[in-house]
Amino acid sequence: MIILSIETSCDETAISVIEGTGDAARPSFSILADNVASQAALHAEYGGVFPMMAKREHAKNIAPLIQKTIADAGFSGKRTDTVPGSALAEIRELLAREPELSAIFEELIVPLARPAIDRIAVTAGPGLEPALWVGINAAKALSILWDIPVIPVNHMEGHVVSALVAAGAEGTDRGAQTLNEVSFPALALLISGGHTELALARGWGDYSLIGQTLDDAAGEAFDKVARMLDLPYPGGPEISKLAERAAGDHGFSFPRPMIGTDDYNFSFSGLKTAVLYHVKKHERPTENDKASIAKEFQDAVTDVLVKKTFKAVAEHGVQTLLVGGGVAANKHIRDEMQKKRDRGFPDLKLFFPRRDLATDNALMIGIAGYFHALSGKETTDLGDIRADGNLSL
Ligand code: KG4
Ligand code: ZN
Repeated sequence: MIILSIETSCDETAISVIEGTGDAARPSFSILADNVASQAALHAEYGGVFPMMAKREHAKNIAPLIQKTIADAGFSGKRTDTVPGSALAEIRELLAREPELSAIFEELIVPLARPAIDRIAVTAGPGLEPALWVGINAAKALSILWDIPVIPVNHMEGHVVSALVAAGAEGTDRGAQTLNEVSFPALALLISGGHTELALARGWGDYSLIGQTLDDAAGEAFDKVARMLDLPYPGGPEISKLAERAAGDHGFSFPRPMIGTDDYNFSFSGLKTAVLYHVKKHERPTENDKASIAKEFQDAVTDVLVKKTFKAVAEHGVQTLLVGGGVAANKHIRDEMQKKRDRGFPDLKLFFPRRDLATDNALMIGIAGYFHALSGKETTDLGDIRADGNLSL
């Protein structure tokens, strides 16, 4: 089954084409094409993501990216037949509220030969609704044009399955790959710009949220602390780089909010405020001061994540731990999770996503879509597919 997937929930426009092979017991897939167009540099100027700006960029970039991705996947040529007038009318009506996308779609995508693609998988939420709608409308337009079903995918489920792609040379492994084998119950720690969640899975699609942040997400805290230190957006990678330069004892530390509470929830807002007070005490922090702050902040976040996650591993008899989301790219967090597993939980399977699959991408949406297809959970009624900014697992 060949799946074209679309991700536009935040500030990356991402399209991929995968070929899913294997059955539910042993799913595997090949990457035919995978592209990400990041708007991060644009949003960096304003220090964060503005939904309407994100939407405009997605609308401008998505059709050219679909065209490129289809070509990368090896589908080429122009169609020789004409598109039925009724389909074209339906597409125009659908895209009437996205005039820019509508024009580029007709120019670039409509004339292409129909590729051998069987399904479209698209992120339906959570995320920025105006941004999500661009991807959803593009998916629906493709569905009408090529007469194939759309599978709506939860972005967070995408982050869960991103950890199933076996580690390899980033971006170069194009052969068939078997997904990492998961033993249930599995626990997913999802740490991104908008979410910090612990989800317990008893099987694929059978998730229960056992903990989440009560205020800021982990990635949001990284981004906000980065801004206090005059580092560009997105702040996570910057903090992590800076923290590596910190040396010795810094003579201070930050609180670990909720580290000892008898639940699986998190809170990062107080930690952020503690960093702010500390930064304000220094008129002009030196590079060394900044590196120490970055390191102490990162250590505080890591301690809380490791403690709460492994508390859940122990208390729920978890057999597989999957870590996903942009913050899962953080080397220190990975190293500490790995150490904790090696020391105390040698039977636990622990999977992290490839670095390039930790942050938002379409590959994970395609893989999650393939899982839905394997389990027969697909939607074909386009009218039922809507953007839901607060969709939960
Ligand atoms: O999953 P993602 O790409 O988008 C959302 O769905 O939110 O996550 C983006 C978040 C940003 O907050 C970014 O600062 C953070 O992931 N991030 C990191 C690292 N790389 C990205 N945080 C810490 N360390 C990193 N290396
Ligand atoms: Zn994400």
